[in-house]
Amino acid sequence: MIIRNAKIVSAKGIREVDILIEGERIRKVGKRVSCSGEETVDAAGLYAFFGGMDAHVHFRVPGAEWKEDFYTGTCAALAGGITTVLDMPNTNPPTISVNALGQKKEMARKDSVCDFGFHFGATENNFEEVKKASPSSLKIYMGQSTGGMAISESAIRRHFLEFEKEKPICIHAEDEKLAHELGERNAFVSSSAVCKAIAWAGECKRRVHLCHASTNTEIILAKSYAKASVEAAPHHLFLSQKDEARLGVCREVRPPLRGEEDRATLWGALAQVDIIASDHAPHTLSEKKEGACGFPGVQTMLPLMLDSAKKGRITLEEVARLLCSNPPKIFGIEGKGEIKEGNFADIVLVNMEKKWKVKGEKMFSKCGWTPYEGMELFGVIEKVFLRGETAFEEGEVIAKRGSGKLVMH
Ligand code: NCD
Ligand code: ZN
Ligand code: ZN
Ligand code: ZN
Repeated sequence: MIIRNAKIVSAKGIREVDILIEGERIRKVGKRVSCSGEETVDAAGLYAFFGGMDAHVHFRVPGAEWKEDFYTGTCAALAGGITTVLDMPNTNPPTISVNALGQKKEMARKDSVCDFGFHFGATENNFEEVKKASPSSLKIYMGQSTGGMAISESAIRRHFLEFEKEKPICIHAEDEKLAHELGERNAFVSSSAVCKAIAWAGECKRRVHLCHASTNTEIILAKSYAKASVEAAPHHLFLSQKDEARLGVCREVRPPLRGEEDRATLWGALAQVDIIASDHAPHTLSEKKEGACGFPGVQTMLPLMLDSAKKGRITLEEVARLLCSNPPKIFGIEGKGEIKEGNFADIVLVNMEKKWKVKGEKMFSKCGWTPYEGMELFGVIEKVFLRGETAFEEGEVIAKRGSGKLVMH
């Protein structure tokens, strides 16, 4: 197959070249690539990105399938131009043992329509299991969130020492002790946790990855250390306390929404941010009424960023860096991130002239609502190829259940 006339966006620039795809891979990228008898996709007027990667999703399997499962979650991903997701361990049972990871892999293999990988969870005492599983990424909750996986500071330090130093430890940075003392989860609660994590990481010269940085201060603190990577979530970029009244019972998320000023400085700090990941954390409306924390976001992340590019807030190249090329680098996933010879043919075609309206009831997520309800966004995801196959087209998922592959564990 050959895709002609698309404007290909990478972190380095935009160029109009043809993409020749053979099987699962990109065979050639260049001007007027010649071939005979190939199926041709004319992408004139469209932009082409490498498939987005969302390194932070909660697909709720096993144990809370009424909120999301691997099929609905990965359908939402494809519809949002995401071809690879990394799922978090706070399920029931949690992904904290070799066995639990094995079970999760099986369930994901059956249902997923995009590629997937898993973060392994740290507990108070699962040091041996972490060694046995030897995962590519370890998740540590410094503060309580959905799943109640926060662990003590002594356990955190031991994981920092024992887990392989060149692999990332992903941190939910909220200082649980401080949160209790202050009676709120303000920006200081997050910054304090980042300070500790960076100090401990520096002490043992290990890599850390800061999840959902909610303020510029967290980013500055983390980036003072060379082996830290930083992630920002769309809800901290597009929503603030100003939206809490509108969101009503849906407003809770950890870390919480910050003030308008923090939101503005977060945008100002994007050049220091390594990746944007959605922290897709679906809960039903009735659970939100009971105080469940988290927003769905895997389907709206790339569209929100494309719309921001259309408005001149960020460049398309920066969007490609933050959502497409950097995430696979940080998590060591081969063959993904850039439209270049030899890589997998995960390609997203986008029409930047068309707009659409965000509606919760029309999203692929099971939760049925979105914090971006009613927003009109420029940038329609026209077509998504996953490893050379059409996976999403004209608003519909074409990929068959089980076509997604495991890319990290
Ligand atoms: C997440 C969830 O519901 O799994 N909730 C949230 O508010 N972000 C957990 C997390 O990422 O902390
Ligand atoms: Zn978190
Ligand atoms: Zn607590
Ligand atoms: Zn999360």
